[in-house]
Amino acid sequence: MKNALLFVSFLAGFSAFGQTWSNDVAQVFFNKCTKCHHTGGIAPTSYMSYNEVSPMSAAIYDAVNQGHMPPWPPDNNYQQYVHDRSLTAVEKTLILDWILAGFPEGIAANTPPAPVYTSSTILGNGDLTVQIPTYMSKATSTNDDYVCFSVPSGLTQNRVIRAIEIVPGNRQIVHHALIYVDPAGLEVTDSIGGNCASPSNSTTKLITGYTPGATPMVLPSSAPMKLGIDMAAGSNVYFGMHYPSGTYGQYDSTKVIFHFYPLGTTGVRQVTADPIIENWNFTLPNNQTTTVNAQYALPAAYPTISVLSAFPHMHLLGKTIKSFGVTPAGDTLKYVNIPNWDFHWQDFYFFKHIQKTPPGTIIKGTGKYVNNTGATVTAGLNTTDEMFIVYFHYMVYQAGDENYDMEALMSASIDELLPAQQGPLMTFPNPFSTSTQIVYANSKVGDVVSVSIYDYQGKLIRQLKNTETLATSGLTIEWDGTTESGADARKGIYFVSMTVNGQPFTAQIIRN
Ligand code: HEC
Repeated sequence: MKNALLFVSFLAGFSAFGQTWSNDVAQVFFNKCTKCHHTGGIAPTSYMSYNEVSPMSAAIYDAVNQGHMPPWPPDNNYQQYVHDRSLTAVEKTLILDWILAGFPEGIAANTPPAPVYTSSTILGNGDLTVQIPTYMSKATSTNDDYVCFSVPSGLTQNRVIRAIEIVPGNRQIVHHALIYVDPAGLEVTDSIGGNCASPSNSTTKLITGYTPGATPMVLPSSAPMKLGIDMAAGSNVYFGMHYPSGTYGQYDSTKVIFHFYPLGTTGVRQVTADPIIENWNFTLPNNQTTTVNAQYALPAAYPTISVLSAFPHMHLLGKTIKSFGVTPAGDTLKYVNIPNWDFHWQDFYFFKHIQKTPPGTIIKGTGKYVNNTGATVTAGLNTTDEMFIVYFHYMVYQAGDENYDMEALMSASIDELLPAQQGPLMTFPNPFSTSTQIVYANSKVGDVVSVSIYDYQGKLIRQLKNTETLATSGLTIEWDGTTESGADARKGIYFVSMTVNGQPFTAQIIRN
């Protein structure tokens, strides 16, 4: 029987391209899909195992082939971003070929360990937590629910933000959250209308947003680049929450955790987020495609600016949106191009390399809308009105800004914020540079143990033990900082993921 099964899986595994779930495909799902597709995640189905994925193969083929999944609207050929969620061409072909070949499982025991998801925070408690009251989604089976909460921060001193983590109260229903700071406390909570898309005062500034699968916004916070965003004493935090259709009756209480620089920190460069280009004066006639443009010329008297991110914003009728700068020398600075606008997946896209934008640059935006609502639609704040805005994070330029690898700087800055580890799983030394000991003192003879190292994006870096039965108690394993292929893992934050008799434990390790 066992031989027959092996023979069948050998044949299946041998088909077409020879790729199997266990050897090739599972790791791609764990890297690129399961952050949302796990029980308790935002996606409706869990893709944590072969048995969960194989019945969905036809839908997966279509979603991947058409580029709907993973959701990543910006065009990577136009510009490259930090925390890119998309599939590489190789990963995409692998999934499609594997499905066409009959999605063979291969040898189940070779499947890498699945990531462990917790709903706790990544960065820990921080300096200030602001939370919306418990709210019940009013989204019906056809209409989404958009509500806004204005919550006093209780901040008694001016502070400088270095990182923000948005923690959804209920990961299954929070489709996105936009976080604003309202320094004058002017905004009000609008949780009745279900149609609240934006704040009402221009002094209320968008700072960051949450979309499922996104990493917390951690600004580079040590040499060579210390960046921060001011937050005034007495500010309110304004939450723009989106609960998708079908979530009626479910509860959420999302919170935002602020991490500040210590009081008195010097040398922090001020980052601003502003809607640099916007157009409030357009009309979309029914049954028409309309192009809307906007531009802003950076005054010649301004300093050169370093643009860090772009966040295009339209509502439900938007189809495409693009933004770029044309410098006085005639060069084009490519900020963002979204060929298929999707209101449900909006984000600040931070550039891998800062876009150095000189004075006199004309920052342009162009978008297309298709209106089939049966009525004329104009610009306005409600979700059923339309918007044309591109926000940017930017700061005054300093020589060399455009040469930094922002992904490396941002992930290195996560290190400094990590909470102290707790629980029975310990690592010594931590942080480490060459090697660290992973210790689980409670282990007993006969325990079945798996131990893997993941990076902070959930990618498997190294498998140290795979369902091994312990012959001695008191487990200690060394990790020498190398990846599965023997390369040196780069500096940054890692997670030890251990299961003992099926029970998961995690701990964070920093390599510096
Ligand atoms: C950032 C979150 C996220 C990631 C990452 C993601 N998905 Fe999804 N996926 C969703 C959500 C949410 C839905 C529900 C429909 C929607 O809102 O578009 C969905 C729906 C789907 C569907 C429709 C059928 C179903 O299961 O509901 C397929 C198929 C799918 N995803 C495949 C994938 C694959 C394959 C990957 C990885 C290559 C992936 N997704 C990565 C969030 C995600």
